[in-house]
Amino acid sequence: MKAKLLAQRTVSSRVKRVASAASVGTKFLVISLLCCGLRTFAESALITVDAARRIGPISPLVYGQFIEHLGHCVNGGVFEPGSSLSDTNGFRRDVLEKARELSPPLLRWPGGTFSKIYHWQDGIGPKNERRRRPNLIWGGEEDNQFGTDEFIQYCRRLGAEPYITVNMATGSAEEAANWVEYCNGTGNTYYAALRCKNGFAEPHRVKFWGLGNEEDAEPDCGRLQDPTHYAAEAWQFAKLMKLQDPGIKLIIAGCGNGTWNRTVLKSLHPVADFFSLHWYCRSKDPETLFGGVAGFDRRLEEMGKLLAEFPVRVTEFPQWYRFPPRDGPVKLAVDEWGIWNGGQSGKEEMWGLDMTYSWQDALGVASWLNALQRNADITGMATWAQLVNIIAPILSDAKASIRQVVFYPLELYRRHSGNWAVSAQCQGPALPGGSKLPALDVSASLDERTHTLTLAVVNRHPTEPIAARIQFQGTAYRRLQAGYELTAPALDAHNSLASPTSECVCRRRFAGQSDFEAYSFPPCSISLLLLQ
Ligand code: AHR
Repeated sequence: MKAKLLAQRTVSSRVKRVASAASVGTKFLVISLLCCGLRTFAESALITVDAARRIGPISPLVYGQFIEHLGHCVNGGVFEPGSSLSDTNGFRRDVLEKARELSPPLLRWPGGTFSKIYHWQDGIGPKNERRRRPNLIWGGEEDNQFGTDEFIQYCRRLGAEPYITVNMATGSAEEAANWVEYCNGTGNTYYAALRCKNGFAEPHRVKFWGLGNEEDAEPDCGRLQDPTHYAAEAWQFAKLMKLQDPGIKLIIAGCGNGTWNRTVLKSLHPVADFFSLHWYCRSKDPETLFGGVAGFDRRLEEMGKLLAEFPVRVTEFPQWYRFPPRDGPVKLAVDEWGIWNGGQSGKEEMWGLDMTYSWQDALGVASWLNALQRNADITGMATWAQLVNIIAPILSDAKASIRQVVFYPLELYRRHSGNWAVSAQCQGPALPGGSKLPALDVSASLDERTHTLTLAVVNRHPTEPIAARIQFQGTAYRRLQAGYELTAPALDAHNSLASPTSECVCRRRFAGQSDFEAYSFPPCSISLLLLQ
């Protein structure tokens, strides 16, 4: 089984390597530019799609979001009781409406680092009896008015599966298991009954549970920096939590350190449905941002090789555990990803987390989504950090809320990508400046139900349109059913709460066409071409 998986990885790794390669400076003769919307151009490229070379199914869970009790993400972001903009639950209606446009299938909570000081029982029951605590991690005070039941209600309103991270730093395995009982218990037991008493007779059915967060990070109240220590503790958490509900799926804390990852996986892989990876990029300039995303792509490749060392199925698992092991390969959970210039905004109190995103960042996000598709075979879930106000696609203040420019690629890819990632290779020019990073970043996906192939292309060149010929190996998809194109007037274009009704992103949809062979991608653009 292991050998078979390794062989599969070798094939898909090869597909991915070719897919991300660009032969720098390649120029093709001007091709027959048959399609509408072609512009004059200085550069050209060749995109080759092979729909029969399948990388893997794209998990719907890769389009998730994350909320944390940090700044105005939860309090004053998704939740603002007393505001005229909020509903009777205290949920900001305008924010929820925008979040629904993003349609995240998964929502992670309560942290992040905050989970290391969070005690879930502070946030249940009558609101006026809830304990107010200092937010020791991020500063300020936590009034615990938005707790487990509010989180679940928010998920239901959003149409997202809840994903809860448990406290392994200042909490215990028993506390975490009691949380599972509170959420999922159906028996005549204390915590299940407490949920009923609090008004929720039906179980919350929380399937995804994270065992800690960045547990190697010593400055963050972390106490489990030694991987063998983490592994031993996490086993205890896993056992007690799975005994409460054998159907839950666990996310094990990984990190950037290879020794940690291998050690932890060796011990915990029988119960590791997912293995967590966090990746933030800086966006000082295009090279830093797009280079960071390329680094993410390489890290996924490395992680894929590591995960392939573990069997697809666990065959020997003592029955005395009284719960089953994982029932498929260990998948990656990229449960924090995004763009964070960490402390460079000059606002130290928020550690630079109150990011205003520019159009350059949106190009980075689209490239990132391409990287997730190119690594669909190993990625089981991903949650963008975060949803509102904190490194977020949505900003709000007391009066209004806006979509940041990064909102649009997130929305577009979620709406129009297929459910299988397939091979797409691109040969074309590099970005100016000697970085050798390709100007075009490409991925392709196939929707098996509608036989639609979505070709996603980001032209990151700051000034040049790039005309690409689109060639198919095997089945050709030549009927352009629809095209979606995002552009903005400049790389530093952004939306702002100061003028909440102005919008800098130009969104273009163009209609169908047969014999589609080529397209000229405008500079600094994101295009999704739906082909049949
Ligand atoms: O998303 C902000 C913080 O970044 C999270 O709390 C932590 O997990 C990560 O380091």
